[in-house]
Amino acid sequence: MLSEDLIELAKERMRPYACEGFVRGRGPEAADLMFVGEAPGKTELEIGRPFIGQAGKIFSGYLDRLGVTRDEVFITSAVRSRPYKIVEKIVKGEPVTKNYNRTPNKKEILAHAPILDEEIRQVKPKLLIPMGKTAVWRLTGWDVSMQEVTGRLFEIPIMQLAGLDQPVYRLTEETYRVFPIYHPAAILYARRLETKAYQDIDRLKQLKDSL
Ligand code: URA
Repeated sequence: MLSEDLIELAKERMRPYACEGFVRGRGPEAADLMFVGEAPGKTELEIGRPFIGQAGKIFSGYLDRLGVTRDEVFITSAVRSRPYKIVEKIVKGEPVTKNYNRTPNKKEILAHAPILDEEIRQVKPKLLIPMGKTAVWRLTGWDVSMQEVTGRLFEIPIMQLAGLDQPVYRLTEETYRVFPIYHPAAILYARRLETKAYQDIDRLKQLKDSL
């Protein structure tokens, strides 16, 4: 679906940064719901599919509660490569090198911006569902806490790259329906968010059922 040229361009632009691999967004050619995460992690890179690691289990729970399967929705993220950081530690007196997932930075998000823009253009989702702060920022430009925006429906222009040769964002002329929810990994780390997260999913189900 995405042109190989666009993927090559994103990979080329990502070259200066500590990011590896490329996991394509996944879903039907047209979907009512598009979930936008942050970036793939180690497991996603190994298997080549979005949201199948630890956070993926919570994400599957979201979908079950919504009454949809992975084949019915489009699943993607702000960045489609895995941002990593190498940390050297001494464990029991021995040096150990660990390679961790990390949050993508603004330059990395910009490098992959044409990918998400194109996915949105092609899939034409009726609802855009950013999961977590990175995705909310990428779509809206808002630097807000998730608490302020989760479970609320916004009808707004979104950020897209001004042009392939213009590395700045502009707001779209048309508006989109954007419904932010907690990133599934947030629940893994803070179980206290679970009740609110599932209330938001129930609200999302109402919206989906009324499409
Ligand atoms: N987190 C994301 O944002 N995307 C994935 O595919 C996995 C974890």
